[in-house]
Amino acid sequence: MTITGRMNQFRYYICLSVSFRLAQLCRFCDIESTACNATGVCESLCNISSICENPNEVCVSAWRNKGNPIIETVCHNPALPFHGQYLTDYNNSVCLMKQVKGMEEDFYICSCSQEECNDPLFFPDGVERNLPPVLLVSLVPALIAVVVLLSAFYCYRLFRQQNLKAPKTKGIDSETCAIIMSDDDRSDSSSANANSLNHNTELLPIQLDVIVGKGRFAEVYRAKLKQGATDESFQMVAVKIFPYDEYASWKTEWEIFSDAELRHENVLQFLTAEDRKAERRYWLITAYHERGNLQEFLTQHVIGWDELCRLGGSLARGVAHLHADRTSCGRAKVAIVHRDLKSVNVLVKSDLSCCLCDFGLSLRLHNSMSPEELANSGQVGTARYMAPEVLESRLDLENIESFKQADVYSMALVLWEIMSRCNAIGDVREYEPPFGKLKDHLCVESMKDDVIRDRLRPEIPASWTNHTSPGVVVLCLSTIEECWDHDPEARVTAQCVVERFGEISSAVISTEPKMIWIIEMKYEFCCF
Ligand code: ADE
Repeated sequence: MTITGRMNQFRYYICLSVSFRLAQLCRFCDIESTACNATGVCESLCNISSICENPNEVCVSAWRNKGNPIIETVCHNPALPFHGQYLTDYNNSVCLMKQVKGMEEDFYICSCSQEECNDPLFFPDGVERNLPPVLLVSLVPALIAVVVLLSAFYCYRLFRQQNLKAPKTKGIDSETCAIIMSDDDRSDSSSANANSLNHNTELLPIQLDVIVGKGRFAEVYRAKLKQGATDESFQMVAVKIFPYDEYASWKTEWEIFSDAELRHENVLQFLTAEDRKAERRYWLITAYHERGNLQEFLTQHVIGWDELCRLGGSLARGVAHLHADRTSCGRAKVAIVHRDLKSVNVLVKSDLSCCLCDFGLSLRLHNSMSPEELANSGQVGTARYMAPEVLESRLDLENIESFKQADVYSMALVLWEIMSRCNAIGDVREYEPPFGKLKDHLCVESMKDDVIRDRLRPEIPASWTNHTSPGVVVLCLSTIEECWDHDPEARVTAQCVVERFGEISSAVISTEPKMIWIIEMKYEFCCF
């Protein structure tokens, strides 16, 4: 494959609401010499990004050294061998270099399927340096120039991204929808659901730091992913560690994360999975968010109207994306239900938007799933957040929508938690989870009494119902009540909640008649 015709290709920011197949955007410079000595993290120095010709192609990088080290960056179809090797790691979201044994020369390959993911290249620890120090020294000025150029390019992209991301965009994010498309539809996204285990025999150079979360099946650590020979250069990541007998939970979550179409700004970013045989542990490596989970955040912070809209809107966008069977750009995707939505399973990002995490109980809703398969999934979740039909095991298993409706109920409780800490709509009390004190352990039987027999829901203070702003009363309040309706069919969808948040985010708390009119107008065509 040549790079003719690719050189001047740039990303097209076009988003059509029709079906299409998305080709991968990769670094594509074919072969270039490099100062990279196959340790730590290397930049390819390739400044050409190209849309792969064939939608089946993934991003690939190879490093080899036969006297002069070179890096090859290309697109390649993983169904075909590359330098005689089959690519097994192409569903990774980063390029984890793996040494190919038995070659004449020192040879490393990696593949991945995320935008421009074949740069930088992560090499396993403990590889010999192949370049003499004198050569390295002579390359220092060039390296500094490259770092400056890369930083400038990064800043430019960040700047452009922020400009493109208007806060009021509804559903479609130009950055995500970008890239190029062909006419034929990808009828099934199973290709994206390939094995994303880090197949490297060498494990990622990760140093565990402190424990930041403890779940039913696993513990989550903050950790450092080393990015060079020194200890100073690292990227913070989160590592979820499962004991060996929790293989099934690790596998479920890894399978959910392995779907490339799950990627979304409001879903925790997955890096890779590792089978740490020697330690008898399974790892999932993801992005790290230092603000921690939403429950911790709400316990420590009182929020204003803007934060309420940001947290609530992004939560709804995450759930809507999970439930959708198309991405916002129209690509086919398997709908997923979370089944354990709660404020502990929502992380707060540095920009105060949310992302969903902990997919250990999640379910991929294939069209081909039989009621038996669905029935086997059982009553799962956390009693406090369980919808009435889940509490009494009466979910309509014939209808996959019923799983989504149960998620919407749980999401309503989380939205209530967010509202309860907002000082723009009334007095704020100390944080309390829905249905009582944090320490109380609520079992299924007591929740049945409250939620089914007594039809109890978290308290809506009078200050919310009597609020003068239509934004609060009409949207937040009625939306929450419609999401936790006893009748699952009467609940609104997560996508509808996204649209309502889209409308109110811009509408500052106000009683202006004009604004009431705007909201009423929207109500006519949005999700009723
Ligand atoms: N707790 C659980 N997962 C986390 C993550 N990825 N970042 C920060 N805290 C977490």
